[in-house]
Amino acid sequence: MNMLRQLFAFCLCLQLGVATAAATDELTRGGTIYSTHCVSCHGSSGQPDVESPLVKSLGIVPANFADTLFNSREPVSTWKTVVTHGGPAMGFSVMMPAFGGTLSEADIDAVLAYIKTEIGGAHDYPDGDLNLYLPLRTKKSFPEDEWVWKLRYSGLDGDDAWKNTLEYEFRIGKRAQGVLELTHEADGDTSRLGQLEPGFKYVFKHDRRAGFIMTGAAQFAVPLNNDAHWEFLPYVAVGKILDDDFTFQGSARLKLDLEDSNESSSELAGVVHWTHTTWPRNVFPALEIVAEIPFERGSGPGRKDAVQYSILPQARIGLNKRGNIALNVGAELPLNDTERYDWRGYVYFIWDFADGGLFDGW
Ligand code: HEC
Repeated sequence: MNMLRQLFAFCLCLQLGVATAAATDELTRGGTIYSTHCVSCHGSSGQPDVESPLVKSLGIVPANFADTLFNSREPVSTWKTVVTHGGPAMGFSVMMPAFGGTLSEADIDAVLAYIKTEIGGAHDYPDGDLNLYLPLRTKKSFPEDEWVWKLRYSGLDGDDAWKNTLEYEFRIGKRAQGVLELTHEADGDTSRLGQLEPGFKYVFKHDRRAGFIMTGAAQFAVPLNNDAHWEFLPYVAVGKILDDDFTFQGSARLKLDLEDSNESSSELAGVVHWTHTTWPRNVFPALEIVAEIPFERGSGPGRKDAVQYSILPQARIGLNKRGNIALNVGAELPLNDTERYDWRGYVYFIWDFADGGLFDGW
């Protein structure tokens, strides 16, 4: 038995040794490719030399790969497209050449691995590959620099209702993000501000190789009209890359009404996106399921007598070539307690401003 175990341990070591050796080989090869093909414009440390005549002649200074925040937040898949097909393929400058004809796919993987690990260095910023698409209801794990405008329409028996939310998200340090949300609601005869929601989010765990990220967050809702209440909204969220074609995100949230605990609820949500291509200007369908669990059940006015289930077919639509300007469009259909609303329609307008201005990348 002992021998068997030793043998097993020996094989494992051998295998791990082979794997690390292969990874080191790839990095060495990546470094050579970088020095041959990239260094003239991107600089040996990853920071372009702005004094070099070649860089001056580009008319644009390439981004600094040695800047850890920048290096970490860009997904390898995006960079692979840029390097293979050239800058314009993703709305960058024509000065970034296409290497698809010169370098093999393995070479491009190697040089990108070199830029990510050797130039990026060891760091604690979550990797951009874990930045999964923003769902309609499930909370997102990845910290962003982003503006989101959310529009929700509810088809009701009486007057239809509209809710607008403007959301500003900004990164703090390596793993954290602040958020500010402002809501506005309108129906037949009222139109008013709803709540102001400041909040904070922190990434507990991120692992690019496992394709996993987990975040905890909390928001406060400050009432801006007489009917709205103070609320405290903590949540945990996870993201997982299932394989090349699918991603999963899930979240559990408490909505604690600080003025009327009968109104409190918890919410479980999960969504699967079909990530069928690495070209961001595309349509990525998703299916989301939400269960809202009221703290107090009952049949009185405003009371919910059951867990409220709904299903939300939706699609992420990348608008510009870079994919940092996008829509998420979908519908919410109640699966039970169908008196609540007939259906809801959602349109999210997403602008990840770290990847370019509103007019860049088209
Ligand atoms: C002739 C100069 C030149 C060479 C050679 C060059 N690049 Fe670039 N690269 C650029 C410029 C200029 C940009 C910035 C384009 C922009 O911001 O619009 C760029 C952008 C990029 C980006 C996108 C960065 C971002 O902002 O997200 C990647 C990735 C990249 N280059 C990788 C490489 C790799 C890898 C090589 C070598 C195989 C290489 N480049 C060789 C000029 C060059």
